[in-house]
Amino acid sequence: MGILSDNRGLSAVIADVADVAGYIWQKGWGERNGGNITVNITSLASPAWASQPALTEPIAIGCTLPYLKGQYFYAKGTQKRMRDLCKAPMHNGSIIRITDDAAHYVIIADEAVLPTSELPSHLMVQNYLLQSGSSYTATLHTHPIELVAMSHSDEFLQSEHLTQTLWSMIPETLAFAPLGIGVVPYQLPGSIQLAQATLEMIDRYDVVLWEKHGTFAVGKDIMDAFDQTDVLNKAAMIYLRARSMGFVPKGMTRQQMTQVQEVFNLPKKRG
Ligand code: 13P
Ligand code: ZN
Repeated sequence: MGILSDNRGLSAVIADVADVAGYIWQKGWGERNGGNITVNITSLASPAWASQPALTEPIAIGCTLPYLKGQYFYAKGTQKRMRDLCKAPMHNGSIIRITDDAAHYVIIADEAVLPTSELPSHLMVQNYLLQSGSSYTATLHTHPIELVAMSHSDEFLQSEHLTQTLWSMIPETLAFAPLGIGVVPYQLPGSIQLAQATLEMIDRYDVVLWEKHGTFAVGKDIMDAFDQTDVLNKAAMIYLRARSMGFVPKGMTRQQMTQVQEVFNLPKKRG
């Protein structure tokens, strides 16, 4: 019997992860094993988990993350496909517990599926979320086509310019991604350097764009992290669609954008 069998709350969270994995595949953002997800599920842990024997020896995270001591996460498995995960989330991901030294993890359920190679970015950001008292639980890395395409231009490697350009495409982008998008210059996938650069950006922006690679988003839950990414990529699609029709889109004026910010009372920093 799997760990979900007597845990309705956790089953619902994992069902949402599976749905998001399906959306990512349908959008063409998840080629092969592309992209990864973690969700902090500690609030849903049953007391029995503490005595559940680990399926692995402790595995090093690569850094020490004090706020994660004893925390539980669902993580997509490395080399696992989103299109498979949406059908069998516990076969293409696993539940890990961070050990008491806050520098290792063990897999506790259901199978010894090794977590994503981007675990350093996910866990460093999860550590920051706990440290800052945030109620956010989910982190999502994916490869949205249009945003990645824009990251191939020097012009859009400037976070403020990219943010203003995307906000100006449609009022909803500003309304639903009010902190905008921050760009992290290219780093090796899975590296601690990439994780550190992501961490430096994530408290200022809704979504971080990894140059020539993909996005990294945080959310209250996995649907929220997906929506943040989707809203910004939709704006990128509109921008590129206009360019492919042969013109540079005019964009909303500063005045129109300020009006949206004021009328909707949009936050300027993470709440
Ligand atoms: P994983 O299969 O290890 O999750 O890696 C996918 C990816 O997108 C790396 O950046
Ligand atoms: Zn990737």
